[in-house]
Amino acid sequence: VTAEKAGFDHFMLKEIYDQPKAYRDTMGSRIAPDGKRVTLNELTITPEAIRNISRVHIVACGTAFHAGMVGKYVIEKMARIPVETDVASEYRYRSPIITKDTLVIVVSQSGETADTLAALREAKRCGAHVLAITNVVGSSVAREANDIITTWAGPEIAVASTKAYTSQLIGFYLLGLHLAQTLGTQTPEEIAEVIAAMKELPAQVSEILEQAEALKVVAEEMAKHDNLFFIGRGLDYAVALEGSLKLKEISYIHSEAYAAGELKHGTLALIEDDIPVIALATQHELLEKTVSNIKEVKARGAKVLGIAVEGETELQKSVDSTFIIPKTLDVLTPALSVIPLQLLSYYASLARGNDVDKPRNLAKSVTVE
Ligand code: AGP
Repeated sequence: VTAEKAGFDHFMLKEIYDQPKAYRDTMGSRIAPDGKRVTLNELTITPEAIRNISRVHIVACGTAFHAGMVGKYVIEKMARIPVETDVASEYRYRSPIITKDTLVIVVSQSGETADTLAALREAKRCGAHVLAITNVVGSSVAREANDIITTWAGPEIAVASTKAYTSQLIGFYLLGLHLAQTLGTQTPEEIAEVIAAMKELPAQVSEILEQAEALKVVAEEMAKHDNLFFIGRGLDYAVALEGSLKLKEISYIHSEAYAAGELKHGTLALIEDDIPVIALATQHELLEKTVSNIKEVKARGAKVLGIAVEGETELQKSVDSTFIIPKTLDVLTPALSVIPLQLLSYYASLARGNDVDKPRNLAKSVTVE
């Protein structure tokens, strides 16, 4: 088992460090050599069928659902098709409107999650085209879907999903670009710009991983608290949800993720002296608004760690400490900003003496509904 961990203390840490390779492998040959187009040759859905898509449903559980929240944003922005996201255990029971023109995207690392599989079957029964983003070739989800985008993250052993999530993000970026190319909703220049920035991501993840020691110190402080908050707007909110789930799952510290603008509608009542707040502020258009939400928690005594993009100076004035991620396009930031959150969870779990790879009460693959 030690050998499989490649010298790392835990599978989770190894899998966090596998991410630059997982990004490269998942992009792989799906980017044309000239960097101007994506080539998702594995898809069977025709350009005509893509032009007929009236709506997209993204259905998944847990971390895969959080990747789907990013996917919604990416597809709506790049392809201008309306997207709804559903937790798989809720999907079937709300009588979703599924037609032949609906593209249903199911996201699952294992490809065996019972609720996700049931959602897939219901979507197929209603005549939708089902596309799966999954990490396990030959899994039930992969076998039953009409189309598959395989994430090449390699086996994920730790219960807490890390490299599967980020590879799912890469899958959504590729799909968003593919839809945009087909529909003409992005110019060739815009597409080339996103691809060029995507190619930078693996090296940028490595840069973040070099800061692990600094995050360990922050995590050890966090581990002394019983409650904390993650806040963010837009894509940062989706990443906040994932950061909060990861922390709860392995450190057992209670945390909540809030859309930063929603705090004042109730949650602000929970902010008291010294409570740690992790504020993601990577979206340029939303920065000013996020900063004013940070001021709201600071005024109530919170200790704020900001996650910001290189070159951002405004945020640093309003937080207690900052973790800087390398510069990328706003739409791609989740693929970088989640990395420090993964490391914070890992080190907080370690500081609390928990079984990092096998947290209590949880299974890697949830095959019951
Ligand atoms: C992630 O850290 C969790 N262990 C969990 O939320 C997981 O993502 C969820 O159970 C879905 O699993 P799947 O991707 O294999 O379908």
